[in-house]
Amino acid sequence: RTCTILGAPVQTGTDQPGCVMGPAALRTAGLPQALTQLGWRVEDRGDLAIPAQTALPHDNPALHHLAETRAWTELLAARAESVAAETDLPIFLGGDHSMSAGTISGISAHAARIGRPLFVLWLDAHPDFHTPDTTESGNLHGTPVAYVTGQPGFDAFPPLAHALPADRICMMGIRSVDPAERARLGQAGVEVHDMRAIDERGVLAPLSAFLDRVRAADGLLHLSFDVDFLDPAIAPAVGTTVPGGATFREAHLIMEVLHDSGLVTSLDLVELNPFLDERGRTATLLTDLTASLFGRRVLDRPTRPHAQP
Ligand code: ARG
Ligand code: MN
Ligand code: MN
Ligand code: MN
Repeated sequence: RTCTILGAPVQTGTDQPGCVMGPAALRTAGLPQALTQLGWRVEDRGDLAIPAQTALPHDNPALHHLAETRAWTELLAARAESVAAETDLPIFLGGDHSMSAGTISGISAHAARIGRPLFVLWLDAHPDFHTPDTTESGNLHGTPVAYVTGQPGFDAFPPLAHALPADRICMMGIRSVDPAERARLGQAGVEVHDMRAIDERGVLAPLSAFLDRVRAADGLLHLSFDVDFLDPAIAPAVGTTVPGGATFREAHLIMEVLHDSGLVTSLDLVELNPFLDERGRTATLLTDLTASLFGRRVLDRPTRPHAQP
């Protein structure tokens, strides 16, 4: 099986510089080699780049880097759509989370072309469900879910050919939600497992139920993994840390169960800010979690009764 790596050094969606170094840090941590060792054919296509942009005006004067984020969205959507048709599992190395506006809309277009429904597992402390009109920070990494689900307010962005139905998104790890996002989440029908739900039920039950839905629909599954899903004690290299995140064991369990399911067809690794890391430990952890997703396991047998052999 072939995995294709595309670097997306996007940092215009956040006001803290550093995510531009994300793809380099993940390569430095040995991500491509780890997947090769697991038997994957790995094709690293290097990093994408956008040309210099002239500023785009907007009614919300707080918005940062609208023109650059629009350009990244357009470029990534086109690349994601084509790479998804050429490889078994593309990995988009971020880059801040605004890049998922591009990757998910591109994968959506691919899914529509092959006639299969796309599902998204969103692992994040945040729902990133603002629009350019409601964002309080002006940071567009807080908006990709609203864009890909076709919420109004994105006239300055590339027109969306295939909106993702909100009820095909499952969010886990959520623990920081702004008022406008809370109202929108309530209406849109996104499946949200906040940290309280995870404390009460664990990660396995909600994840397995979601995977059953994906399997029953013969869906594609895109995983969007924001570093701040993890507890800041184990993953300090992110600009938007929120206490009370997923543990090392919860995160590896999710990745192992996803591997056993065989359902994941594309992956974003986002928000790694290597400038904030401690001796590369966050980049290393992301690499190890990705290895779990690609089949690294403790024993040479499925460890769950309903795992696919
Ligand atoms: N809700 C906050 C904002 O809009 C935080 C967003 C954090 N997003 C992220 N991808 N880390 O500014
Ligand atoms: Mn995010
Ligand atoms: Mn986040
Ligand atoms: Mn700002």
